[in-house]
Amino acid sequence: MAYVLGLDLGTSALKAVLMTEIGEWIAEASSDYPLISEKKGYSEQNPAEWVKALHVVFEVLHQKVPDLKEKLAGISFSGQMHSLVVMDSEMKVIRPAILWNDVRTTKACQFIRETMPDIQMITRNPVLEGFTLPKLVWIMQNEPETWRQAAHFCLPKDYLAYILTGELCTDYSDAAGTLLLNVTKKVYSDEILDTFQIPKKALPKLVSSTTCIGVVTVEAAQKIGIKTDVKVFMGGADNAVAAIGAGITRPGLALSSIGTSGVFLNFESNFLEADAAPLHFFNHIEEEAFYSMGVTLSAGNSLNWFKREFAPEESFDELFSSASRIPVGAEGLLFTPYINGERTPYTDSEIRGSFIGIDSRHTRSHFMRAVLEGITFSLRDTFELLKIAGRDAAEIIAVGGGARNPLWLQIQADIYNRNVRTLTNEQGPGVGAAMIAATGLNYFSNLNDCAALFVNYSDKIYIPNEQNVRAYEKMYTIYREIYKSTKLLSMSLAKL
Ligand code: XUL
Repeated sequence: MAYVLGLDLGTSALKAVLMTEIGEWIAEASSDYPLISEKKGYSEQNPAEWVKALHVVFEVLHQKVPDLKEKLAGISFSGQMHSLVVMDSEMKVIRPAILWNDVRTTKACQFIRETMPDIQMITRNPVLEGFTLPKLVWIMQNEPETWRQAAHFCLPKDYLAYILTGELCTDYSDAAGTLLLNVTKKVYSDEILDTFQIPKKALPKLVSSTTCIGVVTVEAAQKIGIKTDVKVFMGGADNAVAAIGAGITRPGLALSSIGTSGVFLNFESNFLEADAAPLHFFNHIEEEAFYSMGVTLSAGNSLNWFKREFAPEESFDELFSSASRIPVGAEGLLFTPYINGERTPYTDSEIRGSFIGIDSRHTRSHFMRAVLEGITFSLRDTFELLKIAGRDAAEIIAVGGGARNPLWLQIQADIYNRNVRTLTNEQGPGVGAAMIAATGLNYFSNLNDCAALFVNYSDKIYIPNEQNVRAYEKMYTIYREIYKSTKLLSMSLAKL
């Protein structure tokens, strides 16, 4: 049976997931790379590190799977979104990639909004620091020599695909996060390119995620020890690929993904209104599908911060078990997870987190419970925006750290007031990328059919408990007031 390989180029590591053509698990491998942060707010990575990681994961896979070379038929990708790779006319990288979590571009964002106030009618997404166009404008305005030499721009997974095939392309789901794409027409916007003087010829060719962009070059095949007839499929943006890996391939399903940041994502078969911002609206992996989503900047990050600073000696299991003994609503203690600002729904880099309602009877376990509830309330903010836009989800698929603990899964079911399910073998976007390769190889006629074999849900469904739902409704109403009540305080504190 042939193998398909999903490569997930994340922010901290390249993760590889190898599966058979019918979705049986074979092996995984992972290789970390560093973040470079030379100044406050800067976040960069050297693309050469991604290539090094590619070699490492192949070495590991060869050790684990002796028949890899013989059986590997296709490779595809999932990639961190928005991050900018800059190359010269010889296809040489000329500066470190500026990543999605780099926030140096506040002025560039203001410039874009002032120059083109209606840009969102085309991009369907707000102008945010992390997105790609502000990074291009920043280079133009701050690094004229780099700008003069720059001949090609692309996103991280496009660079890795180029290294394997010698072809530079991108897909719609990733292009949607650049603010250069007319999302509904699926073409680069000439209006945006002309306004900001971005040469169209510098942008990668647009293809669909399941397009075969080529086969592995002789040079790359020799380096990583695979055959030259292995087909390479374009792949997509990490959130979109994670969604298909969780089976979010049809209407009525939403994803609650709690990693470092948190994403609440909804499958869309129709356009979301252009003024539905601050929701993001991106092209999905399938040809005529989209997804809308919102981001909680510090989801798992808030939990890790809490454990690191207040319970370094405890294990997560102990902390979760202590929180499970605390009543719903942590007896009047609320937490807002804005410890690094917030993206959805506020787009506010100055707001900071709070614990509200601290009482002398509260213990560390109450604080732990409040942190879990606060992160989930923040994701519900996105769900509420979706409902205002006329969307809903019958069932929510939980993935990431938030899917690993029964207490947090029940909290999600109660706060969203929807049934929540998990995957039996959750491996993040790598499975989605392997699914793209399998569908691209025509083992399946579409991703939905592929999902039927590759995606398996656990039997346990977390069902909202009516009493808890009522208690959380009351807490959520108060939670929503905290942003308004602390905004000015946060601004004053930031100025100190
Ligand atoms: C999405 C976003 C992050 C990155 C992480 O808009 O900024 O989720 O995709 O790779």
